[in-house]
Amino acid sequence: MGCFFGSGWLIFLMTVANIDAQNKPFINISSKCLGNVMRVNTGPLGGNPLEVAVSVNNSAVPLTPSLAAQCGFSMKTDPLGKAVIFASLQNCFAQNMEDKAFTTVLNLQLHDNQMDEDEPHQVAETCHHAAWASREILCERNYMEVSVRRAIPDDYALPDHPIPGTNAKFGDPRRAANSEKQPSEAEFRMTTVVFFTPEERIMTVDQAQRRGYGVANTPTRLVLRSPTNAPETYSQDVAGVDMMVLKTSTIFEKKWWATQIDAAAACPTVSGGVSFTANAISWYLPTHIDPLISSNQFKLLEVHMGVDGQRLSAAEMAARHYSMAVNDMHIVVEIPVGAAGGYFKSHVQDDHYLTSYTIEPMLELLWTEDNAHEETRYKVLFPITTPLMSWPPQITDNTVPEERIFKVLLGPLGSDVALVNITFPTEVLSVADCNVRGFNVLEHESHNGSKAFTLQVPFTDPVVMQMKEAGITVYSLHLTFGLLVLPEFAPFAHTANLEAALVDIVPPSVSGSCDYDSFHITVRYGTQSFNFHTVVGKRLLTPVLAQQYGLVDNGTHFSLMVPFSAPDAAFEAVESSSIRSRLDVSLRNPGTNTIIRDFVLACSFLSTLTECFPDGTMTALAVKLESVPNLSPSQLTLRDPACGPAFSDDRFAYFVFTGSSCGTTRKFMPDAMLYENEISLPDELEKQMQSNDEPEYELKVSCRYDVNTAHAVAFLIKPRNNEPYAETAKGELQVAMRLARDDSYTQLYRDEDYPIAKYLNQPVYFEVELMRSTNPKVSLELENCWATLSEDRTSQPRWNLIINGCANPVDPYQVLFHPVWPDARVQHPSHFKRFEVQMFAFASDQENLSDQLFVHCDVVICDVSRPMGGPCSGQCSNQENVIKGQRRAVSDVHSFIHISSGPILIM
Ligand SMILES: *[C@@H]1O[C@H](CO)[C@@H](O)[C@H](O)[C@H]1NC(C)=O
Ligand SMILES: *[C@@H]1O[C@H](CO)[C@@H](O)[C@H](O)[C@H]1NC(C)=O
Ligand SMILES: *[C@@H]1O[C@H](CO)[C@@H](O)[C@H](O)[C@H]1NC(C)=O
Ligand SMILES: *[C@@H]1O[C@H](CO)[C@@H](O)[C@H](O)[C@H]1NC(C)=O
Ligand SMILES: *[C@@H]1O[C@H](CO)[C@@H](O)[C@H](O)[C@H]1NC(C)=O
Ligand SMILES: *[C@@H]1O[C@H](CO)[C@@H](O)[C@H](O)[C@H]1NC(C)=O
Repeated sequence: MGCFFGSGWLIFLMTVANIDAQNKPFINISSKCLGNVMRVNTGPLGGNPLEVAVSVNNSAVPLTPSLAAQCGFSMKTDPLGKAVIFASLQNCFAQNMEDKAFTTVLNLQLHDNQMDEDEPHQVAETCHHAAWASREILCERNYMEVSVRRAIPDDYALPDHPIPGTNAKFGDPRRAANSEKQPSEAEFRMTTVVFFTPEERIMTVDQAQRRGYGVANTPTRLVLRSPTNAPETYSQDVAGVDMMVLKTSTIFEKKWWATQIDAAAACPTVSGGVSFTANAISWYLPTHIDPLISSNQFKLLEVHMGVDGQRLSAAEMAARHYSMAVNDMHIVVEIPVGAAGGYFKSHVQDDHYLTSYTIEPMLELLWTEDNAHEETRYKVLFPITTPLMSWPPQITDNTVPEERIFKVLLGPLGSDVALVNITFPTEVLSVADCNVRGFNVLEHESHNGSKAFTLQVPFTDPVVMQMKEAGITVYSLHLTFGLLVLPEFAPFAHTANLEAALVDIVPPSVSGSCDYDSFHITVRYGTQSFNFHTVVGKRLLTPVLAQQYGLVDNGTHFSLMVPFSAPDAAFEAVESSSIRSRLDVSLRNPGTNTIIRDFVLACSFLSTLTECFPDGTMTALAVKLESVPNLSPSQLTLRDPACGPAFSDDRFAYFVFTGSSCGTTRKFMPDAMLYENEISLPDELEKQMQSNDEPEYELKVSCRYDVNTAHAVAFLIKPRNNEPYAETAKGELQVAMRLARDDSYTQLYRDEDYPIAKYLNQPVYFEVELMRSTNPKVSLELENCWATLSEDRTSQPRWNLIINGCANPVDPYQVLFHPVWPDARVQHPSHFKRFEVQMFAFASDQENLSDQLFVHCDVVICDVSRPMGGPCSGQCSNQENVIKGQRRAVSDVHSFIHISSGPILIM
């Protein structure tokens, strides 16, 4: 409760506000009458000492602690530096008007270290209090006071008694000033005070006053005041509560007779009746204060509770969570620790932060004893301070890692704690430095009188340490708050370690692969902050499109399957029986449309662009390449401009033709036959395209019949010079040559019947069939047929049977052709050829005849509707050919589809 030094009563206060001591503190002073006491409040004093003096008759009497206790003043301060002064209305210096109005004048002098002394602040308050009880007892922190109605005649006058150490006099200054009213012989004189401790101690009024007791007469009352723990008081246990008791008899004398007035007070000692739990304060005051009650007609009329001298209504008490209960033994007051009306005080012990809570509740009792006129008003202002409570400062980490700022809250702390500096691993910064650095250190006051500090440290500040590991960055902040408890300047520290982890910002990414017919695209989502759109080819991936491409999303990735021929893919080139197709995927920022990721995947997909069917039908698929964006596939044709696509759309053209149609040419090669055609734009369109700077479009198509092995069909495409040539793709044409049992051709020899034995000159019936063809528009023609001794069709000797479709004219036993008619076996007669040969033998000499031979044929497949001349004109339709063929070397004639019979034995 403040320090005292010199002769004055100085309160030395240091508050947080004091740190900024530039401004002259403004003292907000207010005063209030509260029954038999008066209260003066000051606003925060800014850490400056306050001297309190009483102004009497225009001179100031400084209040020392002992004078205050003797004269009815008390004073306290809270950690914020607010002072509260209580004065008993009946204090020694009050100007008393008929015990009905009391004027007290205080001079408050603030000692500002940095400025010249100011004029003192004067507080003058007149309190009207007429409703005095017969006895009023006041318990204050530093004194107890009892005031009793005097039964001695009113005209009694009080002699002047000098106040020790001052020139001032006790008593009513008004009377003191009135020299006309001197004490007369007819009046009682207050001579002696008897203290019961409980032994009697008798002293004169002067002696009592010199020992620090207040003894005074007012117009109607006797006032006695004892400092707490005065020697002539004693302690007594009252219903379990330790109380100090003042018991007196004051003797009044008048000439030959004397009278006495008994006056007693009893007040709880500092700890009397107080108990604590962690959260609450309990205060027990005896209901029946025995030392003050002499009869057994005791009746408690009123009990009021208040705080700081001021009564509270039930609603106000409830709002502050105070409670009061009255039973036979005690009045029990419960106050939660931290409740409004009190304050916390901080303490530091061994660098530990501790707090205590202080509150000054008040109880006011009114009771009667023998008759209703003998009332006692009992008022106790009872400061309670809890024991020191451990209150370790709490760190609250309000950091949201994504905001990249550490947000730290330190608190709650008492309001008397100041933050001085913060120590980081690399440096110590004062609060001001911190704010210059951008840490935004703020102090938050809470309504319950606690405070907290907040601070924000960006992750980027050098005091923050970073550690990267496995895509996660851990930021750590180690800091020690340097704190002070005021006004003692007791330093303490609190250390905090904070950590925040942030997944590194990873943008989304794309990867992909190809299988035989599709692109497989996988998009990995980036960290959540990345919002993006996916563009496939040139189109935004809408939900509809995503569904088409079979989007699968597993939370971290999504994947698409895009066929290589999908509209969003681009054909780059046509390669060996494959198409090179490319898919562009880009991930874009939806706001700016800038590219976050660009992904290109090009693959070659095996593709049967052309097919050669056994029946000689050919198909070719022309695709629009990316390099000819203006090409319209529907305008493409084969060599014969009349042969357009059978089907086309904006990317494809599909052609169907045969080896003998649409300008297809044949090429004879040593062991194969090649049908060739080209797909291109008609000349006039081509010119137009070239004027648009587009490259020429020319697709070379070919079918190859392999003579040696299977009847293979090949295809060759040469779209442009700079692009790779296609390899030959192979298909099969099935042509079979079998022997029939007779010229009805109803029964054929089976494979297991070979070798077949025939007599010389016995007719042998051959049939050649284009197998598995249902196309009536193709026909099979025999170009050349011959016999050899061995299975090798090129072996010598050899005998020609059919040359260029006609029977060998020089053969003495000429081949006989048989027409073919539809029957159970024959659906399309054009797919068959039949001929008859007289069995013969090769002879190296007359004796030694060969015993077997083989027959071979070259076969041509023709388009019935587009005969091309040569063998396709019909079997031996033109004798000219025969002559020509005759002229041709035999070795020329071995490049057609080639078939051979099984061995035929000569019997
Ligand atoms: C002075 O104090 C009173 C109560 O104590 C308060 O209501 C008032 O706002 C204060 N005035 C100033 C200027 O601080
Ligand atoms: C009070 O004032 C009166 C006259 O104004 C004066 O005579 C008297 O001495 C003063 N008393 C004190 C104690 O200053
Ligand atoms: C005071 O208020 C603060 C916040 O408003 C709270 O954190 C703290 O616990 C309170 N203190 C007490 C003792 O109630
Ligand atoms: C930081 O403040 C504390 C007070 O709590 C003080 O003891 C300490 O010396 C200060 N440190 C520096 C480096 O100023
Ligand atoms: C999601 O799919 C991707 C690739 O298909 C895979 O790597 C990842 O592990 C999957 N994630 C989950 C959670 O299944
Ligand atoms: C018949 O020819 C075979 C070989 O072709 C030969 O081995 C055999 O000696 C010849 N016979 C006669 C009679 O010349």
